[in-house]
Amino acid sequence: MPSRQIPPSASALIESLRGTGYSLETAIADLIDNSISAGANCVDLTLEWNEGDPFVVIADDGAGMTEDRLVEAMRFGGAGPSVVRDRHDLGRFGLGLKTASLSQCRRMTVASKSGDVTAVFCWDLDHIRTAGDGWELLEGLSEDVAHLAQPLSDRPSGTIVIWDRIDFGRVRERPTLKAFLAGIERVERHLAMVFHRFLAGDARRLRIAINGIRIKGWDPYLEDQGATIPRPEQTLDSGGERITVRGFILPHPDRFANSTALEAAGGPNGWAAQQGFYVYRQKRLLSAGGWLGIGGTRAWTREEFSRLARIRIDLPNTIDEDWHIDIRKAQARPPEGLRAQLERIAGDIRKIAKQVFFHRGRRAEPSNSDGIARIWQVNPPPAERRYSVRRDHPLLVMLRDRLGRDGEVLDATLELIERTVPVDRIWLDTVETGPPQALGKDPVGYGLLIDSARGIARTMTAAGLDRAAAIAAVARMEPFDSVPDIAERLGEG
Ligand SMILES: Nc1ncnc2c1ncn2[C@@H]1O[C@H](COP(=O)(O)OP(=O)(O)O)[C@@H](O)[C@H]1O
Ligand SMILES: [Mg+2]
Repeated sequence: MPSRQIPPSASALIESLRGTGYSLETAIADLIDNSISAGANCVDLTLEWNEGDPFVVIADDGAGMTEDRLVEAMRFGGAGPSVVRDRHDLGRFGLGLKTASLSQCRRMTVASKSGDVTAVFCWDLDHIRTAGDGWELLEGLSEDVAHLAQPLSDRPSGTIVIWDRIDFGRVRERPTLKAFLAGIERVERHLAMVFHRFLAGDARRLRIAINGIRIKGWDPYLEDQGATIPRPEQTLDSGGERITVRGFILPHPDRFANSTALEAAGGPNGWAAQQGFYVYRQKRLLSAGGWLGIGGTRAWTREEFSRLARIRIDLPNTIDEDWHIDIRKAQARPPEGLRAQLERIAGDIRKIAKQVFFHRGRRAEPSNSDGIARIWQVNPPPAERRYSVRRDHPLLVMLRDRLGRDGEVLDATLELIERTVPVDRIWLDTVETGPPQALGKDPVGYGLLIDSARGIARTMTAAGLDRAAAIAAVARMEPFDSVPDIAERLGEG
């Protein structure tokens, strides 16, 4: 059959690709993915207002590219999804460098050094538009941006991407200084989140600086604060590949030192929006929060009561198709075969998160298997401490939650008590004068216990538990559980 070559019109196609939905921060994150794939340890961003004609420079110290590879890298749709990639490669479509850049500016220049050779190429939308309609890549550094490529000369290798004629994708409006400064802030918060595992050294360590100031990672799980409840990590099979899932229940809002700390922990989009799944591909965060359409016929939404639940999902870069990784890599959708398992894991986390949210950190598990909360635990020999205080007793959990970091004083005190239980003395006294007098199993004895139980229930209510829950908890505590109909009797007074 006869055929014809009909290449697309370059300017029309590029102009339409400009609208693929990048924002300044997601575009920059895409370029940093490339730097990470190229083995960079440092990425230096420069965002310069330049009196209303802003430019952005992204410089890395990665492996760089030879001239041939750079030309190939500038091709739209170079190495696409079908290419098998190195395990550490964060790329996918062979479009990121170009579409991310040109979504924000009308001219992008890439200078790359590998070996002793530096190559420079440039896509200039205005040139493409006026010079016929070919895919004409310009070679070399134009004079007005030449100084921005300077850092390369001091490095053995690396890549510098320069954006100028920036319009942030808005054709008609000129950028304002205020919007530009707000943009820098968004970039900082976004990168702190998306690359937090790199910035903290959990993945390969990476340094990112904006205008000379180093970005500190933002950890969605507040793991270093000690008050988060981590759940065990689970491994699932996704089309023959291993993925891992781990849930975290964040501390009750009361437990933050101040409102700044509370707000920071909420994340760039706030507490309610940032609940749910955090999907990572090669430790790079793709999607932060949301329930990914999971939750049965009526998918879960971002409710107030589940906002302390955050669930980390780690994916390799080999299952993009199954997870519907989208072009900006800002989205992921779990495959059908995994939804039931994810729903089960997440349902559990949501339940605990709800309890923490309403009960200020009270954990769900009863302290003993029979559901009775006992404060003393007798350990078999040769335990160092024969008699220990159960840390999961509801009253201690409540106290610990209220103390926050001062919980250490509580621990020290309990430890001291456990180490100095006057066992010898108790034993001697018991032998000599009989056991200490127990309260009688009669109305007088029960009356005393009920009074004491009532006092504890009142304290728990004052601490924020609802009254019915407090009564139910106290009724299951030793020794109050021995009083007949204790719950009803507490309810009366
Ligand atoms: N900073 C960089 N350092 C080294 N190589 C790079 C860099 N940026 C891009 N490249 C090369 O250019 C190619 C195309 O990049 P890109 O358009 O982002 O597509 P993708 O990342 O999906 O492969 C990459 O696969 C990589 O080989
Ligand atoms: Mg890329």
